[in-house]
Amino acid sequence: MIYSYGVPIPDHSSRSLCDLFSLSGRRAVVTGGASGLGAQIVRRLAEAGADVIAGDIDAARAAALASDVAAATGRRVIGCHLDVADTTTLAAAADRAIAELGGLEIWVNNAGIFPTTGPAIDVADEFIDRMLTVNTRGTFAGAREAARRMTHGGVIVNLVSTAGFKASVGISAYVTSKHAVVGITKALALEFGPLDIRVLGVAPTVINTPGVQAQLAPLRSAGLDIDQRIAANLLGRMGVPDDIARVVVFACSDLAAFMTGSTLAVDAGSLS
Ligand SMILES: NC(=O)c1ccc[n+]([C@@H]2O[C@H](COP(=O)([O-])OP(=O)(O)OC[C@H]3O[C@@H](n4cnc5c(N)ncnc54)[C@H](O)[C@@H]3O)[C@@H](O)[C@H]2O)c1
Repeated sequence: MIYSYGVPIPDHSSRSLCDLFSLSGRRAVVTGGASGLGAQIVRRLAEAGADVIAGDIDAARAAALASDVAAATGRRVIGCHLDVADTTTLAAAADRAIAELGGLEIWVNNAGIFPTTGPAIDVADEFIDRMLTVNTRGTFAGAREAARRMTHGGVIVNLVSTAGFKASVGISAYVTSKHAVVGITKALALEFGPLDIRVLGVAPTVINTPGVQAQLAPLRSAGLDIDQRIAANLLGRMGVPDDIARVVVFACSDLAAFMTGSTLAVDAGSLS
């Protein structure tokens, strides 16, 4: 073991890349894990060797996904009801990881909502409260509940958005909620570093999920050429959930052992 100012430096250099990428033996919780990005994150975490709890307000869908992924990967995958706006359910999912999976090393704060705000000058307090409760407080509380139970270190990944870095007209409450998640990622990385818990953000551009399709439907009906606008990034295409899930697996793995506090843009160059 090499030491730097008394702090042991884990030497990963003799481990194979496959071993560094593996999540074998890790226990994970994914919020909003029943569909969209969360479902693909659950699939990839299990494929990488983790046992996973997929928590979602849609408990039936989470249970169906869990049984499919368990059958495909041979991992323990549990679907459960979880509402990130209700902290008791976050704590219950974390407790379930300890009780039923035997521990907790990975927590993915994925659940989020993105209804169109409309003009900021007209937005109601209740709308702002809901956005901040789910996207911002839900992320903070999820990370806190996870860290309280990560007794031998771990990784927390927060789903941000390119809206965490730049504003777009008509989504001011969402922009506000996701800028805050960039801050949560930095602040908790600072406090959790000494606990050997890394905290990273992942910031997607537009990805083809049920939630996004629901938002795009009225724009398409209004005759807007929305697909061309979405593909106006440096790679010329819309993202798919696996584009994000692969980066989440990387962030959770020991390949990223020296990364914390930053938010990784998965944006096809759209922030460039
Ligand atoms: N898809 C994109 O283009 C995109 C881009 C940037 C960031 N994001 C972020 O990624 C995350 C996932 O987005 P998505 O496109 O997969 O969304 P989605 O709407 O397709 O799926 C969201 C999932 O979360 C669940 N959910 C919603 N509210 C919840 C709550 N209060 N508690 C628990 N579960 C809840 C839903 O039931 C659903 O299964 C969100 O945080 C979103 O802001 C998405």
